[in-house]
Amino acid sequence: GPIDGRPRMYTEMLEQPASVERALRGRLDERFATAHLGGLEMDARELRAVRRVKILGCGSAYYVGQMGASLIEELARVPADAEAASEFRYRSPVIEPDTLYVAVSQSGETIDTLLAVEEIRRKGGRVIGLVNVVGSAIARACDGGIYLHAGPEIAVASTKALTTMFVGFALLALQLGRVRDLSVADGRRLVAGLQNLPAQIEQVLDGEERIAQAAKALAEAESLFFVGRVRGFPVAREGAQKFKEISYRHAEAYQMSELKHGPLALISPEVPTVAIVPDDELTDRNVAALHEIDARGGPLVVVTHAGVDLGDLRVERIDVPRSERELDPLLLTVPLQLLAYHAALALGHDVDKPRNLAKSVTVE
Ligand code: BG6
Repeated sequence: GPIDGRPRMYTEMLEQPASVERALRGRLDERFATAHLGGLEMDARELRAVRRVKILGCGSAYYVGQMGASLIEELARVPADAEAASEFRYRSPVIEPDTLYVAVSQSGETIDTLLAVEEIRRKGGRVIGLVNVVGSAIARACDGGIYLHAGPEIAVASTKALTTMFVGFALLALQLGRVRDLSVADGRRLVAGLQNLPAQIEQVLDGEERIAQAAKALAEAESLFFVGRVRGFPVAREGAQKFKEISYRHAEAYQMSELKHGPLALISPEVPTVAIVPDDELTDRNVAALHEIDARGGPLVVVTHAGVDLGDLRVERIDVPRSERELDPLLLTVPLQLLAYHAALALGHDVDKPRNLAKSVTVE
């Protein structure tokens, strides 16, 4: 319930600079420009033998898993993907001995994720856990893992656990990368980027007032899109998830690249779009898509970096601090938490106890 009259979700969002700091503590090695995750129980030879990474989680954990897959592919150049654990366990997945399976869960008790872990291990696969709750069922079922150190998360909508999951993946990608082909210079760049995150999250949180204004306008729409491309797409998925969970508005995530293959038909002055437009190699393409939306009268909220030129587009702009490109998704995610939170407040909902949802789903 509320602390000091503030919803729990709010206090948990505000704790993120501290929880990210905790997740990093003692795990960065400046000298060798790498990360040390002792709990993996894997030496350099075993890490080098990994040919593929498969990430499994549910809900927000699955979306962060997609961000994690990008981090691993970009930094370690190991093919990686994420799948909903709830789907994985119902198909007949091929379990490969040189694939590293990663289960990601705040509670460590989500039944779909737990049963996926048990199935993989039964078939001889190696699973590591990215888990917040120490000693939880998933943590015990895995071969090794990374504790997130986010502290207790009570609100149903995951915020501080989610950002520490991202950090966990970044550390894993860094360690995996540095036993393979990631250079010392890139390792240093990432170590410094990670160290800067707590202060940068604080900066995003300081922009709350502006985000709250944008949220009030969005709360009036019955239906909205969240769009992003490549690194930005899982961010859009997580943003839409949060928005629907607590505001009960229809929020649909789409790849910005696929807009013209379908959803543009729905764009109108009644259907706003929240667009994730980092300053990266795809900015121009993303800005071109914004023009397509604008030309159809679709209201736009753009989460971006200072310096991205949006020309004469009529948008509500939310700038986040620039990180290293691979780490951008974390800072782009934080304003979407505030956006969902303030939309839900404006609509008078109990953000800590969204209807029909449980904090963790532990029974089938
Ligand atoms: C869902 C919650 O049912 O479980 C989501 O409503 C959460 O918010 C998901 O992301 C996974 O939970 P966990 O504990 O495995 O991370």
